[in-house]
Amino acid sequence: MSDAAARTDQDRAKQAAADAALKEFVRDGMVLGLGSGSTSLRFVRALGAAVAQGLEVTAVPSSTTTRELAFELGVPLATFAEVQHLDLTIDGADEVDPDGNMLKGGGGSLLWERIVAGASDRMVAMVDPSKTVERLGAFPLAIEVVRFGWESTRASLERTLAALGHPEPKLVLRTNTDGSPFTTDSGNHILDAHLGAIDNPLELDARINWVPGAVEHGLFTGVAKAVVLGRPDGSHEVR
Ligand code: 5RP
Repeated sequence: MSDAAARTDQDRAKQAAADAALKEFVRDGMVLGLGSGSTSLRFVRALGAAVAQGLEVTAVPSSTTTRELAFELGVPLATFAEVQHLDLTIDGADEVDPDGNMLKGGGGSLLWERIVAGASDRMVAMVDPSKTVERLGAFPLAIEVVRFGWESTRASLERTLAALGHPEPKLVLRTNTDGSPFTTDSGNHILDAHLGAIDNPLELDARINWVPGAVEHGLFTGVAKAVVLGRPDGSHEVR
């Protein structure tokens, strides 16, 4: 299959997951957390259409990009100054294992995504078939670090990862297309850890946040309560 055909198949599967998440999980009166990334933007478009048809929800976005789209589409928005408790967060993921553990952060919004999911009764992940894996780690683990001393934070993270069984972890500073360092919505940088495989997600999850300067990471263990898998033929499955 050509790259273009695979992309189209993936786009259809993302759309199926977004449409199904809306239909299966969103109800009138809910306060929603909105995820980030292309699948989440598809969900926001579907939500905007439902709001235009009369669905009543309020939403807290997990990135400036999601907020701008939701605002444009007339989705009623709130901030954490107004609501501290959300009913449901719907978000995408980069990888999901059979236990529902996820890698997130491909779009660089992991910190706000974690806060929004953490404020929610329930988090539901939307994925296409390319995201389901037996073992996490082929996708790089995103680690958000404060800009001050990020080189030292990287060295500490390398030592931590080595101690956890990743002998030569490669941590790459994420950059924009012009080569400048990528900056998150919170003004931090991202280090992408190329680990190959993660055998100990729970331990890794706990240990990375102990490193001074590491603000958050994209390993979300025990966060998703359900996973909506969309397929290119428009069908879906809830796991
Ligand atoms: C952004 C994320 C996204 O949810 C994740 O990268 C999936 O993105 P996409 O839906 O574009 O494949 O975690 O920080």
